[in-house]
Amino acid sequence: RVGQQLSGKRIIVTAAGTREPIDPVRYIGNRSSGKMGYALARAAAMRGAQVTLISGPSSLPNPPGIIVKRVETTAEMREAVLAEFDTVDVVIKAAAVADYRPALIAGQKIKKDDDNLTINLVKNPDILYELGQRKKHQLLIGFAAETNELLAYAREKLTKKNLDMVVANDVTLPGAGFNIDTNIVKIIHKDGQVDELPELTKAQVAEIILDKIYTLLTKST
Ligand code: PMT
Repeated sequence: RVGQQLSGKRIIVTAAGTREPIDPVRYIGNRSSGKMGYALARAAAMRGAQVTLISGPSSLPNPPGIIVKRVETTAEMREAVLAEFDTVDVVIKAAAVADYRPALIAGQKIKKDDDNLTINLVKNPDILYELGQRKKHQLLIGFAAETNELLAYAREKLTKKNLDMVVANDVTLPGAGFNIDTNIVKIIHKDGQVDELPELTKAQVAEIILDKIYTLLTKST
């Protein structure tokens, strides 16, 4: 249907959750499986784009025809994204990035000697915010995973992070969010327009997001 409409375009997709080690056997993580990001990477490659998928730990196999860079922590994801950012046309950040990491990583497995254990967390860099500051020609598409005030928080992210579009999902809805094959999203544009989509497969959601990206790319050239 859409042939090779993205041929010649370079796209970074980030997917899955980052993990922050606590000690050699434990980490802080989240529920992201990578399904949404991998569907986007696959769909972009099918349209002829040259895709780099930067993925946190995920059990999904590498999609064919795509350069896949596997990372673990937010710092590693940041480094991998920044290494390619200047040369790409579009970045889609579907990854669920850990906002905090342990201030210290214990060198040995922490023993359960005490009744309470306090782990001091420090803030991670916000990769998307940084891209928003650095962007020149690139289109930046963010996701917003919310449990309340979906549109308000998503709009705030669009503005603060200098995005071209934000895909908001209420992760408390059955049929939406983490580790399932469907999603329910609202796509928020810079001009304030909101497209409210019904429950669709993540593959279908990916196609619609790419339709919107294609429209933006055609407008900007
Ligand atoms: O992987 P699945 O199981 O298929 O689940 C899909 C999903 C729910 C993870 C996906 O649809 C989704 O919503 N991804 C974004 C999750 C998230 O981290 O949202 P956020 O609202 O916390 O972050 C907003 C945006 O900033 C995101 O694009 C995120 O990648 C980016 N971010 C956030 C924090 C940070 N330190 N750096 C970032 O770049």
